[in-house]
Amino acid sequence: MLACMAGCTTGVQQSMADARIESLIGRMTVEEKVGQLSLYAPAGVDIVANPQAAQQSIDQQMADIRAGRVTGLFNNEGLEGKRRAQEAAVKESRLGIPLIFGADIIHGFRTVFPVPLAEAASWEPALAERTARASAQEASADGFRWTFAPMVDIARDARWGRGVEGAGEDVYVGRQFAAARVRGFQGSDLSRADAMLATPKHFAGYGAAEGGLDYNTVDLSERTLREVYLPPFRSAIDAGALSIMSAFNEIGGIPSNANAALLTGVLRKEWRFQGFVVSDYTADEELIAHGFAADGREAARRAFMAGTDVSMQSGLYMKYLPGLVAAGEVPKSRLDDAVRRVLRVKARLGLFDQPFRGLDKQDGPRFDAPAHQALAREAASRSIVLLKNEGDLLPLPRSGKKIALIGPFAGISDLFGPWRIFPDQAPPMGIEEAMRSRLASPDLLTVVRGSDVDAPIAGGIAAAVAAARDADIVVLSIGENEQMSGEARSRSDIEIPKAQQDLADAVAAAGKPVVVLLRNGRALALEGGVRQASAILVTWFLGSQTGPAIADVLYGDVNPSGRLPVSFPQTPGQVPYYYSHKRTGRPQLADAPAQMYKARYLDATNDALYPFGHGLGYARVRYDALEVQSGRMAWDGSLKIRARLSNTGRREAEEVAQLYIGARSASVTRPVRELKGFRKVRIPPGESTDVDFTLSRADLMFIGQNLKPTVESGPFDLWVGPSATQGLKSSFVLVPE
Ligand code: GLC
Repeated sequence: MLACMAGCTTGVQQSMADARIESLIGRMTVEEKVGQLSLYAPAGVDIVANPQAAQQSIDQQMADIRAGRVTGLFNNEGLEGKRRAQEAAVKESRLGIPLIFGADIIHGFRTVFPVPLAEAASWEPALAERTARASAQEASADGFRWTFAPMVDIARDARWGRGVEGAGEDVYVGRQFAAARVRGFQGSDLSRADAMLATPKHFAGYGAAEGGLDYNTVDLSERTLREVYLPPFRSAIDAGALSIMSAFNEIGGIPSNANAALLTGVLRKEWRFQGFVVSDYTADEELIAHGFAADGREAARRAFMAGTDVSMQSGLYMKYLPGLVAAGEVPKSRLDDAVRRVLRVKARLGLFDQPFRGLDKQDGPRFDAPAHQALAREAASRSIVLLKNEGDLLPLPRSGKKIALIGPFAGISDLFGPWRIFPDQAPPMGIEEAMRSRLASPDLLTVVRGSDVDAPIAGGIAAAVAAARDADIVVLSIGENEQMSGEARSRSDIEIPKAQQDLADAVAAAGKPVVVLLRNGRALALEGGVRQASAILVTWFLGSQTGPAIADVLYGDVNPSGRLPVSFPQTPGQVPYYYSHKRTGRPQLADAPAQMYKARYLDATNDALYPFGHGLGYARVRYDALEVQSGRMAWDGSLKIRARLSNTGRREAEEVAQLYIGARSASVTRPVRELKGFRKVRIPPGESTDVDFTLSRADLMFIGQNLKPTVESGPFDLWVGPSATQGLKSSFVLVPE
């Protein structure tokens, strides 16, 4: 029996388990070893969230499991099928090696939490850790012990559809959320029944696809790769992740799924990663389409020898690795290394000890569904970002004013976002139902759809304008539906679909104050009646508790505390847009008049419409004072920074104070600003509070000309403020050794 190894691991147990695994490897045939490196979707059911690939029959798949040719199944919902497959593996195969069941548990399972980009807007990694933990409790109750999450790709081009799955444009925020989600999914002890193995993905550079076009070519300098796209993966691995998913995209001509410099050089030699690498879906076979392999045999060899241990769905490893080993083109040692990694992780999950744990029919709930719904509501309301609130239009009154709720997102469609792939969620509540339940008199609310998501409705605008004229306040629920972001859902244009824009413009012309509720999986370029609205709330895809959470903020039960994890550009033409951009040799300074021969467009300023980090609340917060311990940071020292914030409003404030630095010069050009810390604090009305940060030399590290982590002495600016373009400013010098 392989003793549990995580949490309860002792040196003796570890070496016992390792010895048992070595003994097992010694008894395995080459085919059985390759079987541990072959992962499949369940046969006989429609493949979810992926292109349909050649599929075996259920009988064939069961026969393969009995023959030890399968390491696990993914996205196979239900306990019955898992138990049947596990019995075949454990009781009917020669060596009885248990299967692992994986799934895309991205933001919830039976309870759907806000999409990851929304949660990033809370700027509360601890909250994301809690929702990941709850997701693991729910999915492990369905027999899943491995999730293909967190997605930690930095995304700076809003045209890319998969930004919705990540934590936005910034490295520091991305690192915090990557680590928090790994801790949440895996819990404190991987051998626990409700622990799920995390899989930071997609390694690497996937979010840098040219044109924001999903799966497209990525061409990054190694410096940018190491400085921007790799750090969240490192944070995920440092948090204990024991699997990682290699990406579809190439970087500079080398597909990530077969990139030895990444998969072996960085992951193994530099980072000493002890887990296993799983390919993305048929990514090894796609090396042929890339033109990087002539056929399946070469694709299998290239991917495996570069460092992808497990092949997802293509079957190429099962088909070709035994022959490649026999031909001496794949060393037995490489094969054993990959198998060892997989078996050790299965042992740490307790699968050898208790392969049927969690697969038996359980009476009664195996997780606290009401508590998870409450958590979903808390996470959702804290992920909403208030972009503007002219005349303090919000919070809305519960009586005395007639409200017209207009737009295609007032109901229960498009609440979950693009990665809800399993059924049987508790029925969610939409905006209309939630608003009506808050009003003193339900007939104060009139609801008109006005237009479909991307097509007009005959008479829709006329009906909406009439409702607006008859109302005191308009609430406009518009934006993107679930099919407009997510995988394979890049958009060349990031504006509100025309039919809805026409609706918004017509309603705005009615002259009543408008509150926009944005439904979105990305930053959008807001125009016309949307942009000019009195108030705008970014509500993303908030999941099961969308309606109650939005109503909590609309009516003031919750003070909006979200901040943008992605910049909202003025126009689609500005993307890729991100705050931590370089100066260039001809910077058009934000507060200077537009000048010729400067880095600027003729038809737009370089500003964001709403910058990274921006968000308002129902209280007013003033940044009063900034104290920097000294103007000099000793080479081996640190620097304490304190900012005083005052709540000048009449209700409690929540503020995200952000610390940025800017190196004035270095041997490699540096961004104008880089986030190095944030504090989310509550401030009672009329009171002040101090927020403290400490900078050290490690925070000033960048990738030097030699592509190594580097720190150079010299002058730095620093800011503490409410966004990437504001804040109290100071400076310091890092003195040389
Ligand atoms: C998909 C996605 C990946 C997902 C995998 C399994 O193509 O790229 O994020 O985990 O396949 O569904």
